[in-house]
Amino acid sequence: MSNRLLQTLNGQSGDVPIWFMRQAGRYLPEYRELRSTAKNFLDFCYTPSMAVEATLQPMRRFDLDAAIIFSDILVIPQALGQYVTFVQGEGPKLSRLDHPAELYQLSRRRFADTLAPVYTAIGQVRQQLPVDKALFGFAGAPWTLACYMLQGGGNKTFPHAMRWVTEHQDGLDNLINILVDAVTEHLLAQVAAGATVLQLFDSWAGLLAGDAAAFSRFVIAPTARILQHLKDQAPNIPVIAFPRQAGQQLLSFIEGTDARAVSLDDHVDLTWAAAHVPAHVVLQGNLSPQTLVAGGDALEKACIQAVNIMRHRPYIFNLGHGVVPETPPAHVAAAIAAVRKASST
Ligand code: CP3
Repeated sequence: MSNRLLQTLNGQSGDVPIWFMRQAGRYLPEYRELRSTAKNFLDFCYTPSMAVEATLQPMRRFDLDAAIIFSDILVIPQALGQYVTFVQGEGPKLSRLDHPAELYQLSRRRFADTLAPVYTAIGQVRQQLPVDKALFGFAGAPWTLACYMLQGGGNKTFPHAMRWVTEHQDGLDNLINILVDAVTEHLLAQVAAGATVLQLFDSWAGLLAGDAAAFSRFVIAPTARILQHLKDQAPNIPVIAFPRQAGQQLLSFIEGTDARAVSLDDHVDLTWAAAHVPAHVVLQGNLSPQTLVAGGDALEKACIQAVNIMRHRPYIFNLGHGVVPETPPAHVAAAIAAVRKASST
């Protein structure tokens, strides 16, 4: 049986493959039940039986073309020795890095051992997943990981991390270099364990979109290095880059990283993207998570419209950002049905 998602990533247009960022998670009652049996979120991520089950839950419910391993981008800072915890209802908390002199605290000594359960889970998912389903491994991009590591948690504007962009540029380069190596190693290990496709989440790329020099130095350059390492060491594994809210930097991101596939956030007009992104680049996205929450005719129309706009390019249906907890699962099924119908006519 052929794999629709990998075919599309190899540049063939045909039936539109479908998956959703955060397709596993709190909007699913079976996830909430499983989650309630775990001590905490990171423990959940590092217990292969739980991560495998959470990965497969949306695959059982929905006609999706890919699974994404259940984990988190913040396992990398943790595996580098930073203190990371998830406070219920408050999001992640990390021991924040205040000054470049503190970077010595990060170490690769326990990196592979800490992340081993992720690779175990990937191997088990691959065995249970039909061959026509792709399996995503993923990581946060260096800039986004640096945001959390420097800020000490989540934030809408990451002021502490942004201060390093102006006050500690060389220190930030050093941190980004550490992360380029860590992210590359983590992605290659996921491939070795059975991942057939990768996504690199740069969720906070938009924070630098107004500063072309900083965007080039801290978003484009490190991503380009990771993509080059992956092309050298795993040439058959496609990689989707997600520079969220890159805005006016999107085309320079694509050119500067030589990304072969890009996920679009919901600020990007699809018609504009279909016309202006070079034709060899596979596009993914970008239904608004709020349209998925709303459902109904507006959802169906948006799905059909996306398929129609992208009809002449290799295209993967997805959201512009992750599924939010308020989403009714029936709306996910409705979106899939609408995309399947539109793409087969
Ligand atoms: O289904 C999937 O997509 C796979 C699993 C996945 C999770 N996080 C599980 C998760 C993936 C791919 C991520 C990526 C991730 N994590 C990103 C990049 C994508 C994005 O959303 O921009 C980021 C920035 C994070 C960091 C993170 N993890 C935050 C800020 C939070 C707290 C906010 C929240 O949604 O609760 C998390 C926790 C988290 N990661 C949850 C899940 C299902 C919820 C925690 C829980 O169940 O208690």
